[in-house]
Amino acid sequence: MNPNLGINDKDRTGVVKILNTLLADEYVLYTKTRNYHWNVVGPQFNDLHKFFGEQYGQLDDFVDDVAERARQLGGHSVATLSEFVQEARLKEHPGQYPSAEEMLENLLADHETIIRQLRVDADTAASKFHDAGHQRLPHRPDGESREDGVDAPRLPRGQVRPLALEDGSSGPVETPSSSRAPASALRG
Ligand SMILES: [Fe+2]
Repeated sequence: MNPNLGINDKDRTGVVKILNTLLADEYVLYTKTRNYHWNVVGPQFNDLHKFFGEQYGQLDDFVDDVAERARQLGGHSVATLSEFVQEARLKEHPGQYPSAEEMLENLLADHETIIRQLRVDADTAASKFHDAGHQRLPHRPDGESREDGVDAPRLPRGQVRPLALEDGSSGPVETPSSSRAPASALRG
């Protein structure tokens, strides 16, 4: 069943495609960070082992958010290792065990690659697919907190009214004729 979120099927499909490519990138970065957590060596082992552990923990949350956003939009989430590798823009380097310093450089470069791509994807989702829900995804280019504001699905002018949320904030909108969707589904 397609969700009734004020976004047409073509736009939904386009956004889900963007999300799944991001999901693949995030999963490759998660795996690379976990690899480094396991394989880092040197005098900074203890600090970096912990640091990489914290990082892959955060990436695990990001991956989950992105995958579930795709599901909220009625799409499937890419969810196999072979698909992650196939869809990802980030590259893996099997059999290579870089120095601790190179590990940090590699991870920084990958985070920067995702952020650069997100700038493009954010513009595409909003301007081409009429969906600004990406603003709550991780790795926001503008660095704003994920907790600020609540994004609303875009609906035609004149057909919207404020929807009161459980937490009292203003945010998502709905058409007067539509049944009220769970706020959690609209927040993304
Ligand atoms: Fe561990």
